[in-house]
Amino acid sequence: MNFEFTEEQLMIKQAARDFAVRELLPDVLERDASSRFPARQMKMLAELGFFGMCVDPKYDGGGMDNISYVLALEEFAKIDASAAVVLAVHNSLACYGIEHYANEEQKQRFLPALARGEKIGAFLLSEPEAGSDATSQKTTAEDKGDYYLINGTKNWITSADNAGTYIVIAQTDREKKHKGINAFILDRHSPGISLGPHEDKMGMRSSDTHSVMFTDVKVPKENRIGEDGFGFSFAMKLLDGGRIGIAAQAIGIAGGAFDLALKYSKERKAFGTEICNHQAIAFKLAEMAVKLENGRNLVLKSAWLKDNGLPYGLQSAMAKQYCADSAMEITTEAVQIHGGYGYVKEYHVERLMREAKVTQIYEGTSEIQKIVISRTILKD
Ligand code: CAA
Repeated sequence: MNFEFTEEQLMIKQAARDFAVRELLPDVLERDASSRFPARQMKMLAELGFFGMCVDPKYDGGGMDNISYVLALEEFAKIDASAAVVLAVHNSLACYGIEHYANEEQKQRFLPALARGEKIGAFLLSEPEAGSDATSQKTTAEDKGDYYLINGTKNWITSADNAGTYIVIAQTDREKKHKGINAFILDRHSPGISLGPHEDKMGMRSSDTHSVMFTDVKVPKENRIGEDGFGFSFAMKLLDGGRIGIAAQAIGIAGGAFDLALKYSKERKAFGTEICNHQAIAFKLAEMAVKLENGRNLVLKSAWLKDNGLPYGLQSAMAKQYCADSAMEITTEAVQIHGGYGYVKEYHVERLMREAKVTQIYEGTSEIQKIVISRTILKD
Protein backbone atom coordinates (compact mmCIF):
# COMPACT_ATOMS: atom_id res chain seq x y z
CA MET A 1 0.00 0.00 0.00
CA ASN A 2 1.13 3.51 -0.73
CA PHE A 3 -0.51 6.39 1.11
CA GLU A 4 1.60 9.04 -0.58
CA PHE A 5 0.26 11.45 -3.16
CA THR A 6 2.17 12.04 -6.37
CA GLU A 7 3.68 15.43 -7.08
CA GLU A 8 1.02 16.05 -9.70
CA GLN A 9 -1.82 15.22 -7.29
CA LEU A 10 -0.38 17.61 -4.70
CA MET A 11 0.02 20.31 -7.33
CA ILE A 12 -3.64 20.02 -8.35
CA LYS A 13 -4.75 20.10 -4.71
CA GLN A 14 -2.65 23.24 -4.11
CA ALA A 15 -3.95 24.90 -7.29
CA ALA A 16 -7.52 24.26 -6.15
CA ARG A 17 -6.73 25.59 -2.68
CA ASP A 18 -5.09 28.75 -4.05
CA PHE A 19 -7.98 29.38 -6.41
CA ALA A 20 -10.56 28.87 -3.67
CA VAL A 21 -8.84 31.30 -1.30
CA ARG A 22 -8.11 33.91 -3.97
CA GLU A 23 -11.25 33.80 -6.09
CA LEU A 24 -14.08 32.11 -4.18
CA LEU A 25 -13.61 33.26 -0.60
CA PRO A 26 -13.86 37.04 -1.15
CA ASP A 27 -17.51 37.00 -2.32
CA VAL A 28 -18.73 33.68 -0.89
CA LEU A 29 -20.86 35.34 1.82
CA GLU A 30 -22.40 37.80 -0.63
CA ARG A 31 -23.21 35.03 -3.12
CA ASP A 32 -24.70 32.93 -0.31
CA ALA A 33 -26.92 35.86 0.71
CA SER A 34 -27.97 36.78 -2.83
CA SER A 35 -27.99 33.25 -4.36
CA ARG A 36 -25.74 34.56 -7.13
CA PHE A 37 -24.13 31.96 -9.40
CA PRO A 38 -20.29 32.19 -9.47
CA ALA A 39 -20.24 32.82 -13.23
CA ARG A 40 -16.91 34.68 -13.29
CA GLN A 41 -15.20 31.98 -11.23
CA MET A 42 -16.65 29.19 -13.38
CA LYS A 43 -15.11 30.77 -16.49
CA MET A 44 -11.74 30.90 -14.75
CA LEU A 45 -12.07 27.31 -13.53
CA ALA A 46 -12.78 26.25 -17.10
CA GLU A 47 -9.61 27.98 -18.30
CA LEU A 48 -7.63 26.29 -15.53
CA GLY A 49 -8.87 22.84 -16.63
CA PHE A 50 -11.16 22.01 -13.69
CA PHE A 51 -14.06 21.11 -15.98
CA GLY A 52 -13.07 17.98 -17.92
CA MET A 53 -10.62 17.00 -15.19
CA CYS A 54 -10.64 13.24 -15.79
CA VAL A 55 -11.65 13.36 -19.47
CA ASP A 56 -9.19 11.95 -22.02
CA PRO A 57 -7.06 14.74 -23.59
CA LYS A 58 -8.26 13.58 -27.03
CA TYR A 59 -11.64 15.13 -26.08
CA ASP A 60 -9.90 18.23 -24.65
CA GLY A 61 -9.94 16.94 -21.08
CA GLY A 62 -7.22 17.07 -18.46
CA GLY A 63 -6.59 13.30 -18.32
CA MET A 64 -6.23 13.45 -14.53
CA ASP A 65 -6.97 10.61 -12.14
CA ASN A 66 -9.86 10.46 -9.69
CA ILE A 67 -7.56 11.00 -6.71
CA SER A 68 -6.62 14.42 -8.11
CA TYR A 69 -10.28 15.12 -8.81
CA VAL A 70 -11.43 14.40 -5.23
CA LEU A 71 -8.51 16.35 -3.75
CA ALA A 72 -9.53 19.37 -5.82
CA LEU A 73 -13.23 19.04 -4.94
CA GLU A 74 -12.37 18.84 -1.25
CA GLU A 75 -10.36 22.07 -1.46
CA PHE A 76 -13.11 23.93 -3.31
CA ALA A 77 -15.75 22.69 -0.86
CA LYS A 78 -13.76 23.87 2.17
CA ILE A 79 -14.36 27.40 0.98
CA ASP A 80 -17.39 27.25 -1.32
CA ALA A 81 -19.49 24.10 -1.56
CA SER A 82 -21.80 25.66 -4.17
CA ALA A 83 -18.94 25.93 -6.65
CA ALA A 84 -17.90 22.38 -5.73
CA VAL A 85 -21.33 20.89 -6.50
CA VAL A 86 -21.41 22.52 -9.95
CA LEU A 87 -18.04 20.91 -10.69
CA ALA A 88 -19.04 17.57 -9.13
CA VAL A 89 -22.21 17.15 -11.20
CA HIS A 90 -20.42 18.38 -14.32
CA ASN A 91 -17.37 16.12 -13.97
CA SER A 92 -18.73 12.95 -12.34
CA LEU A 93 -22.11 12.76 -14.01
CA ALA A 94 -22.12 14.70 -17.29
CA CYS A 95 -18.53 14.25 -18.50
CA TYR A 96 -18.05 10.76 -17.10
CA GLY A 97 -21.44 9.60 -18.39
CA ILE A 98 -20.78 10.76 -21.92
CA GLU A 99 -17.15 9.65 -22.05
CA HIS A 100 -17.82 6.16 -20.75
CA TYR A 101 -21.28 5.29 -22.10
CA ALA A 102 -22.00 7.44 -25.18
CA ASN A 103 -20.94 6.33 -28.67
CA GLU A 104 -18.02 7.92 -30.52
CA GLU A 105 -20.19 10.25 -32.59
CA GLN A 106 -21.94 11.52 -29.43
CA LYS A 107 -18.62 12.01 -27.68
CA GLN A 108 -17.28 14.07 -30.60
CA ARG A 109 -20.47 16.13 -30.63
CA PHE A 110 -20.86 16.85 -26.91
CA LEU A 111 -17.77 16.07 -24.87
CA PRO A 112 -15.12 18.61 -25.94
CA ALA A 113 -17.33 21.64 -25.14
CA LEU A 114 -18.05 20.13 -21.71
CA ALA A 115 -14.41 19.23 -21.09
CA ARG A 116 -13.29 22.75 -22.02
CA GLY A 117 -15.97 24.17 -19.71
CA GLU A 118 -17.64 26.11 -22.52
CA LYS A 119 -20.81 24.31 -21.48
CA ILE A 120 -21.82 23.14 -18.03
CA GLY A 121 -23.48 19.72 -17.69
CA ALA A 122 -26.60 18.87 -15.68
CA PHE A 123 -28.11 15.50 -14.77
CA LEU A 124 -31.90 15.21 -14.80
CA LEU A 125 -33.11 12.14 -12.92
CA SER A 126 -35.16 13.32 -9.91
CA GLU A 127 -38.83 14.15 -10.29
CA PRO A 128 -41.53 15.56 -8.01
CA GLU A 129 -42.54 11.98 -7.19
CA ALA A 130 -39.30 10.13 -7.95
CA GLY A 131 -36.44 11.09 -5.65
CA SER A 132 -35.14 8.10 -3.71
CA ASP A 133 -37.48 5.81 -5.65
CA ALA A 134 -35.73 6.56 -8.92
CA THR A 135 -37.42 3.81 -10.96
CA SER A 136 -40.80 5.62 -10.63
CA GLN A 137 -40.10 7.90 -13.59
CA LYS A 138 -43.16 9.82 -14.82
CA THR A 139 -41.33 11.80 -17.49
CA THR A 140 -41.97 10.02 -20.76
CA ALA A 141 -39.83 9.67 -23.88
CA GLU A 142 -42.23 8.45 -26.53
CA ASP A 143 -40.61 6.60 -29.41
CA LYS A 144 -41.72 8.34 -32.63
CA GLY A 145 -39.50 6.50 -35.09
CA ASP A 146 -36.47 8.65 -35.77
CA TYR A 147 -36.99 10.83 -32.70
CA TYR A 148 -38.35 10.74 -29.14
CA LEU A 149 -40.88 13.15 -27.70
CA ILE A 150 -40.15 14.07 -24.07
CA ASN A 151 -42.87 15.26 -21.68
CA GLY A 152 -42.76 15.69 -17.92
CA THR A 153 -41.09 17.50 -15.06
CA LYS A 154 -37.71 17.06 -13.41
CA ASN A 155 -36.97 18.41 -9.93
CA TRP A 156 -34.00 19.74 -7.94
CA ILE A 157 -31.78 20.09 -10.97
CA THR A 158 -28.32 21.44 -10.15
CA SER A 159 -27.13 24.04 -12.72
CA ALA A 160 -30.48 23.81 -14.55
CA ASP A 161 -30.23 27.37 -15.85
CA ASN A 162 -26.48 27.75 -16.29
CA ALA A 163 -25.97 24.38 -17.94
CA GLY A 164 -25.71 24.05 -21.71
CA THR A 165 -26.02 20.25 -21.88
CA TYR A 166 -28.57 18.09 -20.13
CA ILE A 167 -28.52 14.35 -19.56
CA VAL A 168 -32.18 13.43 -19.18
CA ILE A 169 -33.61 10.16 -17.87
CA ALA A 170 -37.15 9.28 -19.04
CA GLN A 171 -39.54 6.36 -19.36
CA THR A 172 -40.13 4.98 -22.85
CA ASP A 173 -41.98 1.75 -22.08
CA ARG A 174 -43.82 1.72 -18.77
CA GLU A 175 -44.63 -2.00 -18.99
CA LYS A 176 -40.94 -2.82 -18.89
CA LYS A 177 -40.53 -0.78 -15.67
CA HIS A 178 -36.86 0.17 -15.10
CA LYS A 179 -35.85 -1.75 -18.22
CA GLY A 180 -38.01 0.64 -20.27
CA ILE A 181 -36.09 3.77 -19.13
CA ASN A 182 -33.76 5.66 -21.48
CA ALA A 183 -31.11 8.38 -21.15
CA PHE A 184 -30.69 11.25 -23.64
CA ILE A 185 -28.23 14.05 -24.26
CA LEU A 186 -30.03 17.33 -24.91
CA ASP A 187 -29.25 20.95 -25.56
CA ARG A 188 -30.63 22.90 -22.58
CA HIS A 189 -32.18 25.43 -25.01
CA SER A 190 -34.15 22.84 -27.00
CA PRO A 191 -37.65 24.09 -27.88
CA GLY A 192 -40.21 22.99 -25.27
CA ILE A 193 -37.88 23.19 -22.23
CA SER A 194 -38.86 25.68 -19.52
CA LEU A 195 -37.63 26.23 -15.98
CA GLY A 196 -39.42 26.68 -12.68
CA PRO A 197 -38.28 29.49 -10.35
CA HIS A 198 -34.83 29.44 -8.74
CA GLU A 199 -35.19 27.35 -5.57
CA ASP A 200 -34.61 29.39 -2.40
CA LYS A 201 -32.45 26.82 -0.62
CA MET A 202 -31.08 26.40 2.91
CA GLY A 203 -27.52 26.04 1.63
CA MET A 204 -25.55 25.71 -1.62
CA ARG A 205 -27.29 28.96 -2.34
CA SER A 206 -25.07 30.16 -5.15
CA SER A 207 -25.52 26.99 -7.21
CA ASP A 208 -28.70 27.28 -9.25
CA THR A 209 -31.43 24.70 -8.69
CA HIS A 210 -34.69 24.60 -10.63
CA SER A 211 -37.36 22.22 -11.74
CA VAL A 212 -37.30 21.67 -15.51
CA MET A 213 -40.47 21.19 -17.57
CA PHE A 214 -40.50 19.31 -20.88
CA THR A 215 -43.37 19.92 -23.27
CA ASP A 216 -43.18 17.92 -26.50
CA VAL A 217 -39.39 18.22 -26.61
CA LYS A 218 -38.11 16.50 -29.75
CA VAL A 219 -34.89 14.54 -29.30
CA PRO A 220 -33.28 12.81 -32.28
CA LYS A 221 -32.79 9.08 -31.79
CA GLU A 222 -29.05 9.51 -32.19
CA ASN A 223 -29.04 11.38 -28.84
CA ARG A 224 -30.06 8.28 -26.86
CA ILE A 225 -27.23 6.86 -24.75
CA GLY A 226 -26.73 3.12 -25.18
CA GLU A 227 -29.23 0.46 -26.19
CA ASP A 228 -32.97 0.93 -25.73
CA GLY A 229 -33.73 0.46 -22.01
CA PHE A 230 -30.20 1.23 -20.75
CA GLY A 231 -31.22 4.47 -19.00
CA PHE A 232 -31.78 3.23 -15.44
CA SER A 233 -28.67 1.11 -15.28
CA PHE A 234 -26.76 4.07 -16.78
CA ALA A 235 -28.09 6.42 -14.06
CA MET A 236 -27.14 3.97 -11.29
CA LYS A 237 -23.64 3.49 -12.71
CA LEU A 238 -23.15 7.26 -12.87
CA LEU A 239 -24.35 7.73 -9.31
CA ASP A 240 -21.86 5.13 -8.06
CA GLY A 241 -19.12 7.50 -9.22
CA GLY A 242 -21.02 10.72 -8.50
CA ARG A 243 -21.22 9.71 -4.84
CA ILE A 244 -17.43 9.75 -4.56
CA GLY A 245 -17.51 13.40 -5.61
CA ILE A 246 -20.25 14.28 -3.12
CA ALA A 247 -18.39 12.44 -0.37
CA ALA A 248 -15.30 14.52 -1.21
CA GLN A 249 -17.44 17.64 -1.14
CA ALA A 250 -18.87 16.67 2.26
CA ILE A 251 -15.43 16.05 3.72
CA GLY A 252 -14.30 19.38 2.29
CA ILE A 253 -17.18 21.21 4.00
CA ALA A 254 -16.36 19.39 7.24
CA GLY A 255 -12.64 20.17 6.87
CA GLY A 256 -13.39 23.85 6.30
CA ALA A 257 -15.48 23.97 9.48
CA PHE A 258 -12.87 22.02 11.43
CA ASP A 259 -10.05 24.41 10.39
CA LEU A 260 -12.11 27.39 11.52
CA ALA A 261 -13.06 25.75 14.83
CA LEU A 262 -9.46 24.73 15.53
CA LYS A 263 -8.19 28.23 14.89
CA TYR A 264 -10.95 29.84 16.94
CA SER A 265 -10.38 27.47 19.86
CA LYS A 266 -6.73 28.55 20.04
CA GLU A 267 -7.65 32.25 20.08
CA ARG A 268 -10.78 32.48 22.17
CA LYS A 269 -10.26 32.63 25.90
CA ALA A 270 -12.69 31.55 28.62
CA PHE A 271 -12.09 30.86 32.30
CA GLY A 272 -8.57 32.22 32.02
CA THR A 273 -7.28 30.13 29.12
CA GLU A 274 -7.75 29.43 25.41
CA ILE A 275 -10.84 27.25 25.05
CA CYS A 276 -8.85 24.45 23.35
CA ASN A 277 -7.30 23.84 26.76
CA HIS A 278 -10.68 22.80 28.12
CA GLN A 279 -11.20 19.09 27.69
CA ALA A 280 -14.80 19.61 26.55
CA ILE A 281 -13.46 21.46 23.48
CA ALA A 282 -10.28 19.40 22.99
CA PHE A 283 -12.30 16.16 22.89
CA LYS A 284 -14.72 17.64 20.39
CA LEU A 285 -11.76 18.54 18.18
CA ALA A 286 -10.32 15.05 18.58
CA GLU A 287 -13.59 13.41 17.55
CA MET A 288 -13.92 15.75 14.58
CA ALA A 289 -10.36 14.95 13.47
CA VAL A 290 -10.99 11.18 13.61
CA LYS A 291 -14.14 11.52 11.50
CA LEU A 292 -12.31 13.67 8.98
CA GLU A 293 -9.47 11.19 8.67
CA ASN A 294 -11.85 8.22 8.29
CA GLY A 295 -14.01 10.04 5.76
CA ARG A 296 -11.05 11.20 3.68
CA ASN A 297 -9.67 7.66 3.61
CA LEU A 298 -13.01 6.30 2.38
CA VAL A 299 -13.12 8.93 -0.36
CA LEU A 300 -9.55 8.22 -1.45
CA LYS A 301 -10.07 4.47 -1.44
CA SER A 302 -13.18 4.80 -3.62
CA ALA A 303 -11.31 7.08 -6.02
CA TRP A 304 -8.37 4.68 -6.09
CA LEU A 305 -10.66 1.73 -6.88
CA LYS A 306 -12.19 3.73 -9.73
CA ASP A 307 -8.77 4.72 -11.05
CA ASN A 308 -7.70 1.09 -11.01
CA GLY A 309 -10.74 -0.25 -12.84
CA LEU A 310 -12.01 -2.12 -9.76
CA PRO A 311 -15.63 -2.20 -8.52
CA TYR A 312 -16.33 0.85 -6.36
CA GLY A 313 -20.13 0.98 -5.84
CA LEU A 314 -20.00 -0.37 -2.29
CA GLN A 315 -17.14 1.89 -1.18
CA SER A 316 -18.63 4.97 -2.82
CA ALA A 317 -21.92 4.40 -0.97
CA MET A 318 -19.97 3.93 2.28
CA ALA A 319 -17.95 7.08 1.60
CA LYS A 320 -21.04 9.13 0.75
CA GLN A 321 -23.01 8.01 3.81
CA TYR A 322 -20.12 8.35 6.25
CA CYS A 323 -18.80 11.66 4.94
CA ALA A 324 -22.23 13.27 4.68
CA ASP A 325 -23.31 12.22 8.17
CA SER A 326 -19.91 13.17 9.59
CA ALA A 327 -20.02 16.54 7.82
CA MET A 328 -23.32 17.28 9.55
CA GLU A 329 -21.87 16.31 12.93
CA ILE A 330 -18.56 18.13 12.42
CA THR A 331 -20.11 21.37 11.18
CA THR A 332 -22.63 21.33 14.04
CA GLU A 333 -19.78 20.95 16.54
CA ALA A 334 -17.83 23.72 14.78
CA VAL A 335 -20.77 26.06 15.36
CA GLN A 336 -20.93 24.91 18.98
CA ILE A 337 -17.22 25.62 19.53
CA HIS A 338 -17.72 29.12 18.14
CA GLY A 339 -20.63 29.70 20.56
CA GLY A 340 -22.66 32.79 19.70
CA TYR A 341 -20.19 33.79 16.98
CA GLY A 342 -20.87 30.51 15.21
CA TYR A 343 -24.47 31.55 14.80
CA VAL A 344 -23.68 34.64 12.74
CA LYS A 345 -22.84 34.58 9.06
CA GLU A 346 -19.52 36.41 9.26
CA TYR A 347 -17.82 33.40 10.86
CA HIS A 348 -18.71 31.04 7.96
CA VAL A 349 -19.41 27.95 10.11
CA GLU A 350 -23.19 28.38 10.07
CA ARG A 351 -23.03 28.46 6.24
CA LEU A 352 -20.89 25.31 6.22
CA MET A 353 -23.44 23.63 8.51
CA ARG A 354 -26.26 24.57 6.12
CA GLU A 355 -24.21 23.30 3.20
CA ALA A 356 -23.43 20.00 4.93
CA LYS A 357 -27.12 19.16 5.25
CA VAL A 358 -27.77 18.56 1.58
CA THR A 359 -24.89 16.10 1.26
CA GLN A 360 -27.10 13.75 3.30
CA ILE A 361 -29.85 14.23 0.72
CA TYR A 362 -28.62 14.61 -2.87
CA GLU A 363 -27.11 11.90 -5.06
CA GLY A 364 -28.94 9.44 -2.79
CA THR A 365 -29.88 10.13 0.84
CA SER A 366 -27.89 8.55 3.67
CA GLU A 367 -30.74 6.05 3.97
CA ILE A 368 -30.41 5.12 0.27
CA GLN A 369 -26.67 4.58 0.77
CA LYS A 370 -27.51 2.16 3.57
CA ILE A 371 -29.82 0.29 1.18
CA VAL A 372 -26.98 0.03 -1.35
CA ILE A 373 -24.45 -1.02 1.32
CA SER A 374 -26.70 -3.57 3.04
CA ARG A 375 -27.89 -5.14 -0.22
CA THR A 376 -24.30 -5.49 -1.39
CA ILE A 377 -22.92 -7.03 1.80
CA LEU A 378 -25.92 -9.36 2.13
CA LYS A 379 -25.49 -10.50 -1.48
CA ASP A 380 -21.73 -11.12 -1.26
N1 CAA B 1 -25.11 -0.21 -11.27
C1 CAA B 1 -25.74 -0.79 -12.31
N2 CAA B 1 -27.01 -1.26 -12.22
C2 CAA B 1 -27.65 -1.11 -11.05
C3 CAA B 1 -27.05 -0.51 -9.94
C4 CAA B 1 -25.72 -0.05 -10.07
N3 CAA B 1 -25.09 0.54 -9.06
N4 CAA B 1 -27.93 -0.49 -8.91
C5 CAA B 1 -29.04 -1.07 -9.36
N5 CAA B 1 -28.87 -1.46 -10.66
C6 CAA B 1 -29.81 -2.14 -11.52
C7 CAA B 1 -30.20 -3.48 -10.89
O1 CAA B 1 -29.28 -4.50 -11.25
C8 CAA B 1 -31.57 -3.70 -11.49
O2 CAA B 1 -31.46 -4.17 -12.81
P1 CAA B 1 -31.90 -5.69 -13.23
O3 CAA B 1 -33.35 -5.81 -12.86
O4 CAA B 1 -31.61 -5.72 -14.68
O5 CAA B 1 -31.02 -6.58 -12.39
C9 CAA B 1 -32.14 -2.30 -11.60
O6 CAA B 1 -31.02 -1.41 -11.58
C10 CAA B 1 -33.08 -1.97 -10.47
O7 CAA B 1 -32.36 -2.14 -9.27
P2 CAA B 1 -33.05 -2.31 -7.85
O8 CAA B 1 -34.02 -3.44 -7.92
O9 CAA B 1 -31.99 -2.35 -6.83
O10 CAA B 1 -33.90 -0.95 -7.79
P3 CAA B 1 -34.66 -0.26 -6.61
O11 CAA B 1 -35.90 0.32 -7.12
O12 CAA B 1 -34.74 -1.16 -5.42
O13 CAA B 1 -33.73 1.02 -6.26
C11 CAA B 1 -31.93 2.33 -5.49
C12 CAA B 1 -32.39 1.06 -6.19
C13 CAA B 1 -30.50 2.06 -5.09
C14 CAA B 1 -32.74 2.64 -4.25
C15 CAA B 1 -32.00 3.48 -6.52
O14 CAA B 1 -33.33 3.77 -6.85
C16 CAA B 1 -31.31 4.74 -6.04
O15 CAA B 1 -30.09 4.84 -6.10
N6 CAA B 1 -32.10 5.76 -5.60
C17 CAA B 1 -31.53 7.07 -5.28
C18 CAA B 1 -31.51 7.95 -6.48
C19 CAA B 1 -30.53 9.05 -6.39
O16 CAA B 1 -29.41 8.87 -5.93
N7 CAA B 1 -30.90 10.21 -6.89
C20 CAA B 1 -29.99 11.33 -6.93
C21 CAA B 1 -30.39 12.29 -7.99
S1 CAA B 1 -29.04 13.00 -8.85
C22 CAA B 1 -28.49 14.31 -7.94
O17 CAA B 1 -28.81 14.49 -6.80
C23 CAA B 1 -27.50 15.18 -8.63
C24 CAA B 1 -27.41 16.54 -8.11
O18 CAA B 1 -27.94 17.45 -8.67
C25 CAA B 1 -26.51 16.83 -6.97
